[in-house]
Amino acid sequence: MTIDYEKGILKNQTALVTGASSGIGEGIAKAMAAAGANVVVNYSSKEDAANLIVQDIKKAGGSAIAVKADVSSEDQALAMFRTMFDTYGTVDILINNSGIQKDSPFKDMTLQQWQRVLDVNLTGAFLCAREAAKEFIRRGIVPEHSRAAGKIIFISSVHEVIPWSGHANYAASKGGIMLLMKSLAQELGPHGIRVNSIGPGAIKTDINRQAWETPEAEASLLKLIPYNRVGETEDIARVAVWLASDEADYITGTTIYADGGMLLYPGFAAGG
Ligand code: BGC
Repeated sequence: MTIDYEKGILKNQTALVTGASSGIGEGIAKAMAAAGANVVVNYSSKEDAANLIVQDIKKAGGSAIAVKADVSSEDQALAMFRTMFDTYGTVDILINNSGIQKDSPFKDMTLQQWQRVLDVNLTGAFLCAREAAKEFIRRGIVPEHSRAAGKIIFISSVHEVIPWSGHANYAASKGGIMLLMKSLAQELGPHGIRVNSIGPGAIKTDINRQAWETPEAEASLLKLIPYNRVGETEDIARVAVWLASDEADYITGTTIYADGGMLLYPGFAAGG
């Protein structure tokens, strides 16, 4: 499926999408490019995949570069921002999407499993948000490009509010993102910076392949989704483009859940 978004809704803007070599990040990178933004496709290891995405964007008439960085490393994150500034001069939209799971029953969870998830999902988001905020404040609002000085969008999860047994590290990282996002929205609002999250439910990507790959797994997953379909990356990409655009200019400090109703306590549809 390709996103047929209103052409140019993000034109003259540069978007950095972290973790853009697959899954939701890939979908968002392509959608942002289709909406007219220059896109920095960040990846940590899948270089070939990132280069293919850049090629696809260029073939469709867009502009993109692939930049390698592990967002949890301060040096690498800063180097990525420098490369972006050398190429596109500035940044207007940060999509803090990089995220991993390292699932384990809690009593067996290693410090490494805990730490790595917090490092990528929360510290990586912090580092990129900080660098973006510096640039947004330095540059200020460019009225021909956007009403805002900058937009930060965290790709969080329904698990910023839904507890998740066997995934305590992941849920803790997403709960952390929720208050990081709100605190930044409060602090950066006076600078004309909007900060929001998207909270995806179950979206078909590699991270949760085992939850939808077989018909049995999908049937069991659908019991958690009142709208009765597993999400696609485009479901999130569309929201991201809109939320980054001036169409959403009065929205800050909010999570938009795109989850087919996963947050509606589906177990209560027939119980309680
Ligand atoms: C997780 C997926 C999961 C979904 C819904 C996401 O944040 O990464 O593995 O399927 O939440 O539970």
